[in-house]
Amino acid sequence: MTADGDAPDVRDVFGVMERQRACREFTEEDVSDELVARVLRAATRAPSAENSQPSVFVVVRDAATRAAIGGLMRRAWEGGARRYSEGRLDPALLADVDRGATETLARAPVHVIVGADLDRCLPQTVGSSVFPAIQNLLLAATAVGLGSVLTTLAVTQAGELRRLTGLDERVEIVAVIPLGWPVRPPRPGVRRPLAEVAFRETADHPW
Ligand SMILES: Cc1cc2nc3c(=O)[nH]c(=O)nc-3n(C[C@H](O)[C@H](O)[C@H](O)COP(=O)(O)O)c2cc1C
Repeated sequence: MTADGDAPDVRDVFGVMERQRACREFTEEDVSDELVARVLRAATRAPSAENSQPSVFVVVRDAATRAAIGGLMRRAWEGGARRYSEGRLDPALLADVDRGATETLARAPVHVIVGADLDRCLPQTVGSSVFPAIQNLLLAATAVGLGSVLTTLAVTQAGELRRLTGLDERVEIVAVIPLGWPVRPPRPGVRRPLAEVAFRETADHPW
């Protein structure tokens, strides 16, 4: 049993990993606080360097704040990120990211701003200690049927994000995760085959 009384069902963890996808379009249906707390609790179960647990999560539901965060994503995208991504991203992904950044991500009913408390970890361990928690969050969201996407576009506008969320300079903002009910089931993911990325004993022996 977990501390909150649920019997963990680990049998489907592989299925959840297979299903986890970037979702950039959400219905207008709200997400209950209970569900948000369940997903956040899963995030807090993640490992971190020296068990420093530096992750902090600001859950934004306020419509005006979400619109402002959406504006930051749009500004970052139109101010250079789109130009950088054109010709690099697969056209379908580019179109999805484009629509997300300019239109659909802002409409997610919940935005989770994820930061690292620099009083709890070294700057060098921010990524390695916060991204495991983010991955747990994404997997937990998938497990309960929510759509989510890890985004970093708005992080380039950290000052504005600080103003909107009240996070001070001692918290490094790492990601913004829109969360909500997906409009449609995800397309199958495109992932490199194991034989291309895994090796036996030495790097010249593909799996
Ligand atoms: C570090 C990181 C930053 C990302 N930033 C963004 C972002 O700013 N905007 C966005 O729409 N997607 C973002 N993504 C999502 C990726 O585009 C997505 O994970 C990848 O294309 C795989 O998509 P899939 O799960 O649908 O197959 C980011 C993912 C990671 C890991």
